[in-house]
Amino acid sequence: MSKKLPLYRILQNQGFGTRKGCQLLIEDGDVSVAGEVVTKPKTEFDPVGLEFSVFDEPWLYREHVYIALNKPANFECSRKPSHHPGVHTLLPEQFTWRDVQPVGRLDHDTTGLLLLSDHGAFIHAQSHPKHHQPKVYVATLAEPGDQALVDELLAGVQLHDEPAPIAAQIAHLIDATHLEIVIDQGKYHQVKRMLAAAGNHCAALARAQIGGLSLASLDLAEGEWCYLDDAQLAILNRED
Ligand code: URA
Repeated sequence: MSKKLPLYRILQNQGFGTRKGCQLLIEDGDVSVAGEVVTKPKTEFDPVGLEFSVFDEPWLYREHVYIALNKPANFECSRKPSHHPGVHTLLPEQFTWRDVQPVGRLDHDTTGLLLLSDHGAFIHAQSHPKHHQPKVYVATLAEPGDQALVDELLAGVQLHDEPAPIAAQIAHLIDATHLEIVIDQGKYHQVKRMLAAAGNHCAALARAQIGGLSLASLDLAEGEWCYLDDAQLAILNRED
């Protein structure tokens, strides 16, 4: 059995605000546990598996959160976005309080699968180059592509400021203007720069898959997010 904690502390570490703010939520009768309103902030509960509600919205206690977002265009992954809203505005504000951050970044105009978490070790492991998590992108080409373009991407293209050519792991044309490309690094604007180096141009870019986890399997509309379950996390943590 894990250690019991006062309810205001549980709310605080689940992202419901400051210590004082959480105490007030409870005192105001806005928090229920197992269907019963609790008005004493220091009432203790075992947090593991705890189901509670705040303003009638149900929550499950989670030590960490692991999230997948279908990122729309015109949102920035940066914590301090400059030209567009941040991706955190698409998520409940509790996640900002919990310091949920993107695992790596997508450009503001790139759409598709973005992972986020408040678990530093997970973020570090997933973004570490040693993990070599292949990432599948679908690029909309500005000019129709051909086999020569695919061959060049597979052979490797020289990017500015890189010591050696960088090759796609997999590349193939879906149709004349859509290319599926798999890379296992995450260099700045990598896919766009690879396409430019190969003489084409990326008109739009979408991330379809990270490791074994595909966006299609999550069934999320643009702008929607979901918690990742243990099976989905196991897919991401698989070393192969
Ligand atoms: N490559 C890019 O050029 N942009 C992204 O957002 C991701 C990969």
